[in-house]
Amino acid sequence: ETLSLKEAFSEDFLIGVAINNRVIEETDTLAVGLVAREFNSISPENVMKWGELHPAPDVYHFDLSDKYVAFGEKKNMHIIGHTLLWHSQIGSWMNEVKDSAVMSSYIENHINAVAGRYKGRIYGWDVLNEALNEDGSLRESIFLKVMGEDYIERAFSLAAKADPKAELYYNDYNMWKPEKRAGAIKLIKKLQTKGARIDGVGMQAHWSLSGPSLEDIEQSIIAYAELGLKVMITELDITVLPNPWDLEGAEISQNFEGSEIMNPFPNQLPDSVQIQLAERYENIFRLFLKHKAKIDRVTFWGVNDKVSWLNNWPIKGRTNYPLPFDRAFEPKKAYERILRLK
Ligand code: XIL
Repeated sequence: ETLSLKEAFSEDFLIGVAINNRVIEETDTLAVGLVAREFNSISPENVMKWGELHPAPDVYHFDLSDKYVAFGEKKNMHIIGHTLLWHSQIGSWMNEVKDSAVMSSYIENHINAVAGRYKGRIYGWDVLNEALNEDGSLRESIFLKVMGEDYIERAFSLAAKADPKAELYYNDYNMWKPEKRAGAIKLIKKLQTKGARIDGVGMQAHWSLSGPSLEDIEQSIIAYAELGLKVMITELDITVLPNPWDLEGAEISQNFEGSEIMNPFPNQLPDSVQIQLAERYENIFRLFLKHKAKIDRVTFWGVNDKVSWLNNWPIKGRTNYPLPFDRAFEPKKAYERILRLK
């Protein structure tokens, strides 16, 4: 009998997965079985985002997020909330707000309604998502434009009040980049200085076969832990396809239609790449184990290759293979190599 991921790493960190509607509503029974067997934490891939939950000032749709939380409780999982404040996937009306006090009250209503509704049932909230630019400066989101940087402390304080027991996180991508890391540290220290509670940092891990380097990842894990915070590896997936920004000549990034390079493996992943992917996962998990005292959770962004968002992002309609389970829910070499570390 081989162990599942959650069993193998039970003394090290939680093993999480982002779930979609078909898991939440239990219509995809194979996916539900896999989630229950392999993982002990869930994240809502979309159902708790502002635009889904709260599409107009006085309209809330809690049906699916209620089911999400109930699903996690039924399966005895650590339930993650994602995300209270993000510039993307917000209600479109938010983009029209011009007045700081109005923006502030919308944010207050939203966080109180959402975090308050699930008070005591969410293990940790991604309070703020993707608030930084690549150079470490604050992103010119609608929140920053209208309210200035006060919106950040406001969000954390509101979340702390609405659900005092939930852990509170800052979550972002490219958190391994030295300049962005410096910006994240600045943002966090400012919160800490002002006395707002923040418990952890989520490093989204939308990575590739070649980058980021293990050194950059390691330096970031160490730096965030030194702030006294828990480190979470969130949104882990490893693309095997070229990203437009990695290709020669930025102008190529406009039109990929009909270009073979944009969907090089439509039917199956060649063995050589399958092995590269497995080795990359093995190296990454070896690093995570080295820092298990600092890492609280490692969450995959999707149950298997079939439902991964990377089939449609950053280019629509490609066939990607970024996760440890294949389209038939079978474990891939990557899965074996991760487990072999234990
Ligand atoms: C993605 C979902 O996976 C997609 O289904 C959706 O269309 C767009 O959002 N960073 C995040 C996640 O914090 O919420 C995003 O999830 C992926 C990037």
